[in-house]
Parts: sequence; structure tokens; C-alpha cells
Amino acid sequence: MRVLVIGSGGREHALCWRLARCPSVKALFASPGNPGIASVATCVPAGDGTPEDWLRVAESVDADLTVVGPEAPLVAGVADCFRAAGRVLIGPSRQAAQLEGSKIFAKQFMKRAGIPTAEFRVAASEAEAREALKHFGVPVVLKADGLAAGKGVVVARTAEQAEEAATALLSGRLVGPAGSRLVIEEYLQGEEASFIVLTDGRRVFSFECTQDHKPVGDGDTGPNTGGMGAYCDGRILSPEQRRQVLERIILPAIEGMAAEGTPFTGFLYAGLMMTADGPKVLEFNVRMGDPEAQPLMHTLEGDLAEALAASARGSLDESLLRWNGQCSVCVVLASEGYPGPPRTGLPITGIEEAEAMGAVVFHAGTRRTDQGLVTAGGRVLGVTASAPDLPGAIERAYAAVRAIHFEGMHYRRDIAHKGLKRW
Ligand SMILES: Nc1ncnc2c1ncn2[C@@H]1O[C@H](COP(=O)(O)OP(=O)(O)O)[C@@H](O)[C@H]1O
Ligand SMILES: [Mg+2]
Repeated sequence: MRVLVIGSGGREHALCWRLARCPSVKALFASPGNPGIASVATCVPAGDGTPEDWLRVAESVDADLTVVGPEAPLVAGVADCFRAAGRVLIGPSRQAAQLEGSKIFAKQFMKRAGIPTAEFRVAASEAEAREALKHFGVPVVLKADGLAAGKGVVVARTAEQAEEAATALLSGRLVGPAGSRLVIEEYLQGEEASFIVLTDGRRVFSFECTQDHKPVGDGDTGPNTGGMGAYCDGRILSPEQRRQVLERIILPAIEGMAAEGTPFTGFLYAGLMMTADGPKVLEFNVRMGDPEAQPLMHTLEGDLAEALAASARGSLDESLLRWNGQCSVCVVLASEGYPGPPRTGLPITGIEEAEAMGAVVFHAGTRRTDQGLVTAGGRVLGVTASAPDLPGAIERAYAAVRAIHFEGMHYRRDIAHKGLKRW
């Protein structure tokens, strides 16, 4: 089949890298793609990013299957637009994508479906926020309702911070109109984990559990980023915890969405807090994670394109996919200044050497020029390596990292270290 991937980051490079290895894929396209993706797929320029425009791109390459990387096109209704035109796309409808597009929708849905999550209140004004805050101690968590690219959540340590955060979010100062309504919720304690499944609306294939690293600095210090690294490891969850996540969260979510007339198809990502009372949902995302996709794609076996096409048609065969059992670590190499405005346009060296060591280097923010490959964003590369055990995967990933250079490059030195206690 002819497959189109929408997006241009490390997640999309990882998806393309995996799809390019599928026997069922006869031609692979990405829009807009990036220089790394260009080594495994044909990159096609994107237009204005509307659903109609993505449909035009899919028609121009005659895609039999379109895979959406980022959330914005899904929340804007790209799946509905393709469905109306009779073109196959894997991803939830605009209604079902509200699980990510509106944190209020997600919380109210979880309440109806009996899915464990933090206690919460909704506020649309400062007066409502003050009233809601009375029901919680500190720390307390304030979340913008709408899409905020990871900048819409404040964990307030004091009552003063909480009021300031409410004002900053509601005024539009922090994340614009996404903050015009808030979820205010109970602070949960525990270890975070990401549990991602592929679903056709009824059946699920569970990817291996992953952990992300949002803060820019070692030991989870400094400002949050889009993600400085991720790893997958079968030991993050015990078999009992895994069963709980499936039975209390994933299956009720999929059944609940179907029962409410908004069946969910595509990648469902549950951001979890593993609390003393069991797993609770921090948030749902309606697509693969970035950088979680990088370790997951590196260790996935089977024909992903066939599994995605079958899911889109409502007949997922879970046996099409399997995890190879290895641990995998992705270390993100970032530009000077990131997560603030990054310095870009700097030459990158050492990718071939890193790949000769057995790692795969996924591109996130690079540009091909006459002078060679240069940096073109905050997150530049995701160096990904696997091994039968976590210490081995960490060792391989960092050995490859040390082969790569660009001026001002920085990265976390402790990706996956929180998993070492399980080995
Ligand atoms: N109820 C909570 N208790 C403790 N920490 C939380 C809670 N909700 C969110 N967080 C922290 O904030 C981060 C971002 O929140 P999340 O709901 O995942 O929103 P987003 O990814 O859209 O920014 C989480 O990864 C977690 O570290
Ligand atoms: Mg999150």
C-alpha cells in the first residue's frame, strides 16, 4: 500500500523508519517530513494545515493509508474530512479527539466512565477558580482546558502560586484562549508512566510501557520541554499493574467512548500516575508520544502499516504486532537556548558514526543545506538504541550520543536512570 505520514518531527521519523520496513508498504510519503525522514520516504510539502489541505496532500500521492503524527490535525477534524471523502486515515474523529483537545471533556468523560483520575473542579473565571481552590490543599494542579503544547499545566506549591497561575491562565497570558477555562485538580503522588495502545474502537494492541523526561535538566530540574528523552522497558509496570491499567483505564475508555457514540480509533495514550491507590490518569493524548514513539518504534516487530490499516477499518488483528522484548532508550539532543528560543543553523557532525555503533538517529529539528546538515529547531535529534537490558540500552545510546556534535548541543545525562532501580 501507499502510506502517508503527516508531521515533521522525531515521532514522525520513527513512524516512517518503522513503516519503511513493512512488507505491505510499497511507497512511503511524509508531509512535510524532514531530512531524516527523506532517507526513508518521499517528502511532500504541506499547505496550510487544515483538514482539507491534508486531504489534498493524500490525494496528490494517492495514499491508501494516512497516519497522523501530531494532535492538532486530529483535533481540527482531519479524520472526519478523510472519512467523508472515502480515504483511509488512522486516528480519532474530531469528537473523539476531544479526549486530548479538551481537558474538561476528558475529566468529565473519566468521571462518567468510572476511570480513576485526580479529583477536580472546572473554573471559567477568577471567582470560580478561587472557589474551586478552596476544595484542595497544596500542592494543587491547574490545567488549561485546550491544546497548549505542554505549557498549559501549573503545579502550584502554595495558595499564592495557585491564585497567580489561575490569573495567568485565565487572562490568556500563559497559553492564550486555551486557558479560558481551567481544570483545577488534586495533586497526585507517585511515578509517572505512559501507556499507549493502538485501537480499532474495540480491540487493542498495547505497546510496551514508556517513561518520558519533560524537564530540561538532570534529576528533573529546570523548565519543562517537549521531552528530553524516553525509554521503554517491560519492567516499568509489574504484570499486575499492567492488568490494572488495561482493565480500569484503557478498556473502560474505549468502551465508554463507543457507548457514547464517539468511538475512538487510533493511538490512545494514557499519561498515568502510579499512586499508592493504583494507576490514575493524568491526561489522555490521542496520538503517539514524542519522544515515546522513538523507543517504541525501535523495538516493535510486525507489519505496522497492516495493523494501522486494519484498525482504521475497524478490524485490528493484535497478532500483527509484537514487542521484541528489548529495552530501548532515546536521548534528545537539543539546541542552545532550548526550551527558550533556540540557536539554529549550526552544522551537525557524527550521525554516521553514531549509526555505525548500532543506534538510530531520528531527526526532529534539522535542515539540509548546501553546506550539509544543520540544526533547525529546539529538539534536533533523538539518538535511540536498544539492548536486552536497560543498563545496556543506556550505555549504547550514550556511546552513540558522544559521536555527535553541534555547537551549543545539550542533553540530559540521566535518561532512563529512574528505571535502573528495577534492574
Ligand atoms: N494531578 C496531578 N498531580 C501531580 N502532577 C500532575 C498532575 N497533573 C499533571 N501533573 C504533572 O504535570 C505534567 C503535565 O500534565 P499533563 O496533564 O500531562 O498535561 P500536558 O501534557 O498537556 O502538559 C504531568 O506530566 C505531571 O508531571
Ligand atoms: Mg502530559
